[in-house]
Parts: sequence; C-alpha cells; structure tokens
Amino acid sequence: MFLVLPDPQAVAAYVSNHLIQLIQKKPTAVLGLATGGTMEPVYQQFVQQVSALQLDVAQLHSFNLDEYVGLSQAHPQSYNYYMHQHLFNLLPFTEAQLHLPDGLASDWQAECQQYSTRIQQAGGLDLQLLGIGSNGHIGFNEPGTPFDSRTHVVELLERTRQDNGRFFSSMDEVPCHALTMGIQDILEAKEILLVVTGEHKAQTMLNYFQSPASEDMPATVLKQHSNVRIVMDNAAASLLPETALHQAA
Ligand code: GLP
Repeated sequence: MFLVLPDPQAVAAYVSNHLIQLIQKKPTAVLGLATGGTMEPVYQQFVQQVSALQLDVAQLHSFNLDEYVGLSQAHPQSYNYYMHQHLFNLLPFTEAQLHLPDGLASDWQAECQQYSTRIQQAGGLDLQLLGIGSNGHIGFNEPGTPFDSRTHVVELLERTRQDNGRFFSSMDEVPCHALTMGIQDILEAKEILLVVTGEHKAQTMLNYFQSPASEDMPATVLKQHSNVRIVMDNAAASLLPETALHQAA
C-alpha cells in the first residue's frame, strides 16, 4: 500500500501513531528500527506522544538495522549514538532492551550470526521501520545483495558513502564498511513500514515502482511481503504516476 501525505511532519505523525497503536496492542512488541535523516522527525514525534500518553515502553525490544564498522558507540556518527540521541535517552528504556550490531566486534562472523539469532530468539520483528538509500538500499544492503541474506558485513558503495558523507566533517571519515541486518531478516518482520520523504528520493521511488522484485534494487524485495506500507510525502511521490498510488506497494 502506498500512502502519500503532505510533508515530513505528517509522515512522522502517521508513523508515530502507527507505532503507538502497535505498542498499545502489544506492549512486548519487538521493533526493528532505522536511522537517517528521514527518521529524525519520526522519533521526535514518537517521544512526544509516548511521553504525553505515559505509554509503558519497559517491555519493548528493539533491533537496529545497521551500524558502521569501526565506529564506537561514543562516536557521534555511529548509529548507536544516533539512536541514544534521538530516542533511547529520551524515554525510560534500559540497555538490555536495545540491540544494535557492534561496530567494534572482534569477530565479525560471530557478531553477524548472533545478531540474526538474537532477533529470532526475541520472537522475530513485529514491525520493521525502513528508510531507503538513493540506490534503493535498505539497511545497508547494497544492490546485488542476495534476498536470502542474514546479518553480514558490507562494503559500502561510493554513492552511499557520498550520500551519508553529509553527516561527517570530511569524506575521509566516512567508513567503508558496515554491518547490516540481511534482507531475509527484514523480510521476516510481520509488518514493514518504508518511510520516504523529500524530492531527492522521488527518482528512487519511481525506480522502485518501475522495477520488478530484483536484487539490483534491494527495496523491491518488499513487493514479495504481504504487509508493507510505503509512507511518502508529496515530494518523494512527485514522479509516481497517479495510477501507482492505487496499487499494492
Ligand atoms: C543509510 C542507512 C539506511 C537509511 C538511508 C537513508 O544508508 N543505512 O538505513 O535508510 O541511509 O537515509 P536518510 O533517511 O538520511 O535519507
């Protein structure tokens, strides 16, 4: 299902409401979380609403999609730092509830295997939040990643490094590798929300719409999932034909 809302604030309100309804229904929900500029207004609204409603978050578990290799939790551009800054430090979570791949793991293979296993042991993801990279990556699963992949280490493509370089003070500081949940891990979530805002994502969404499910564009795997909502603002949807919006995602 495609849903088009006026602007990033309306998208954030929709996603935040959706998360809250899930938590009200299932206080023990397991959430798959994402980072990036798109998610900042989402977490901002979510924190405000959870606080206003005094919603109990103590039984939730979260698993983040990805983390840069080589960045410690204290590095301001690590996804661990981002999550604490935008969400985890702002609500009464305990660290035991919060899971991220470890960017400083000494044994990558073990870290990756254990991460996918931990998701399964937690009962699987009730809902996975996703953003999208301009080349169609989800998490850090770059084009060409097999659809049956589990958590793994990826070499980031130059385009992805350039896109994310805006958060770093120089391109030299942008890591070349990351740990990411695999596409199969993502696909096993009971429900998926892909959140896309901004004119700079309009071409990506047109490519998504025009492409069959193909490893050349990882996000298109969502076409094989039965419970996906793609929530966009007008700008991100601006190149999509009117007919697209009446079709399944
Ligand atoms: C990074 C993350 C993705 C995210 C993407 C888009 O590459 N690994 O999970 O979806 O960026 O980020 P933004 O929301 O900043 O456009």
